[in-house]
Amino acid sequence: MALIPADIIEDVRIQTDIVNLVGEYVKLEKKGRNYTGACPFHQERDPSFTVNPEKQMFYCFGCQAGGSAIKFLMLIESLTFVESVRRLANRAGINLPDLEKSGDDKKAAREERAWRANAEAGDFYHHYLLNSPEAKPAREYLAGRGLSQETINTFKIGYAPAAWDSLTVHMRKAGYRTEEIVETGLAVGDRNKVFDRFRNRIIFPVANAQGRVVAFGGRILGAADNQPKYLNTPETPFFNKGKILYGLHLARQAIRQAGYAVIMEGYMDVVTAHQSGIRNVMASMGTSLTADQGKLLLRYTRDIYIAYDADSAGMKAAARGLDILQQIGCRLKVISMPRDTDPDDFIRQKGAQGWNALLEGADSLLEYKMSLARTSGRDARGILDEILPNLSEIKSDIELEDGIKTVASRLNISWEAVKGEIRRYRASQRKIWVKPDKIAKNTHNILKSDKTRDALSGAEMGILKILVEKPEKLNLFRSVLGNDFIQDPLVKELYLAVVPWIDSGRFEPARLLDELGEQQAALLSRLIMEKSFGPGGTEDSAGYDPQDIDRIAEDYINVIKRNDQARKRIVFMQELAKAEKNNDIDLVNDILKKLQEIGNPE
Ligand code: GTP
Ligand code: MN
Repeated sequence: MALIPADIIEDVRIQTDIVNLVGEYVKLEKKGRNYTGACPFHQERDPSFTVNPEKQMFYCFGCQAGGSAIKFLMLIESLTFVESVRRLANRAGINLPDLEKSGDDKKAAREERAWRANAEAGDFYHHYLLNSPEAKPAREYLAGRGLSQETINTFKIGYAPAAWDSLTVHMRKAGYRTEEIVETGLAVGDRNKVFDRFRNRIIFPVANAQGRVVAFGGRILGAADNQPKYLNTPETPFFNKGKILYGLHLARQAIRQAGYAVIMEGYMDVVTAHQSGIRNVMASMGTSLTADQGKLLLRYTRDIYIAYDADSAGMKAAARGLDILQQIGCRLKVISMPRDTDPDDFIRQKGAQGWNALLEGADSLLEYKMSLARTSGRDARGILDEILPNLSEIKSDIELEDGIKTVASRLNISWEAVKGEIRRYRASQRKIWVKPDKIAKNTHNILKSDKTRDALSGAEMGILKILVEKPEKLNLFRSVLGNDFIQDPLVKELYLAVVPWIDSGRFEPARLLDELGEQQAALLSRLIMEKSFGPGGTEDSAGYDPQDIDRIAEDYINVIKRNDQARKRIVFMQELAKAEKNNDIDLVNDILKKLQEIGNPE
């Protein structure tokens, strides 16, 4: 890993406001000194996600994810530390020196260059659409489809000239090598002769969740006769279409506000929806939905509506993806579009109001699959078999009960019978289906449950909490307990990491957090963000009585001492038994003396 100089990381830290950054992803509300919101890293009803502007930290009381702004960006955008610092530096306008590149960094640098090339090409197409006489028919075509100038600008829609090398010439002038232009999918051919991939087409730039252009879709003007209607960037080292949803970067805010997202089929569906004020939408671009796409959406919501033309090939392709989305924890509804109508047509005809009514009538995934199975002529048994995998996937008891009710009443079978089938199915499948909580566990640092923690680790953790809030208490603990008094390995590791910072006189938790491993960082965030001691555990960490903290510290010290005694006593008793067995009188007396020294349990 190429190292970013520490002073630059420091600049990034100082110039990044965590409340602003998190606010781009999470709707935050001010609560006392903190801001709270719904955790973007796990699903929850009550907001337990907290941002503390003073300490420049975030922490979720639900899933224990926590850390600095750098960490937040790492988790939410799946970045490495270095990538996250880079991104924040960019955001803050801090220049990073060109660093010695390691393998990973080389890849990142190549990707960065590919993205820049795409941005350059996107600008070229967009300007060409707006300004060139050649693009007049394209402008008229888009106007004919009802797109406003604002919409064209928002989506940066463009036009690719008819000539065979306009873009390639432009890109070369902009400093890109022919191989790069081909590698990013902008041109086809070899060293000797390359053609622009997109010619005489309306261009839809496809961005990733961060809004970087990673690919393009090019639509033919008018009807497609002997050419494909759309031409898309092929899979490249920088573009994997199963990981992208068209329009997501423009939909994120709206998804959070609405509490759900809608997946449509095509570019035009998304563009038209946006123009009508329906912004929580994106398109799968004609592919079967993937787990990666689902995970992308789970950052914002688990409630997902599918709006495909019912009989389309797209729906059949998507249907395969629905089970995958359910498996990773999405809650799906399927909108039934009128025959031969896509969302573009529908919204144009019925507006946002008609659209909302359509959503109201959407079927749950179960209902949708039951109708599908019924139309294909299956009986109740056959239909039940069809949907058992989906029923069994429902983890929440309440949702499962709902599902069982739906199925029982639709198929006219008893509630118990459905339940029995689910039980049998689950037993037979236990080993096959992927456990979604595995995914959750990988994303979030899950600490062992509080209940498994005994008084001793409680005291150890309590001491750490005191140190985090009142570092000056370190001397007290050290003088009474020494430096090696912690048994819990996790707490011990964290203690050993904290102590040098306190000794150096500049303990800054947000900085330490970025150096720690996942579990330690989660524990430290928790210790910092949890309510303070003192009367009623006030929000205000400065607000408790210093005498309280001394009393609490003393309690912790006593617990640790008693525990230490108890451990030593056990060892001495074992040695004593051995010495007595061996008739070693001297040793027996020796041990008895030691036992007396450590004293009796109170
Ligand atoms: P309009 O016909 O202009 O309304 O476009 P649309 O976006 O509604 O397209 P449609 O519903 O026909 O197709 C849905 C999506 O599938 C498109 O947005 C494309 O991403 C993709 N698609 C459609 N036709 C083709 C094609 O011929 N080739 C490829 N590769 N993809 C296509
Ligand atoms: Mn269409």
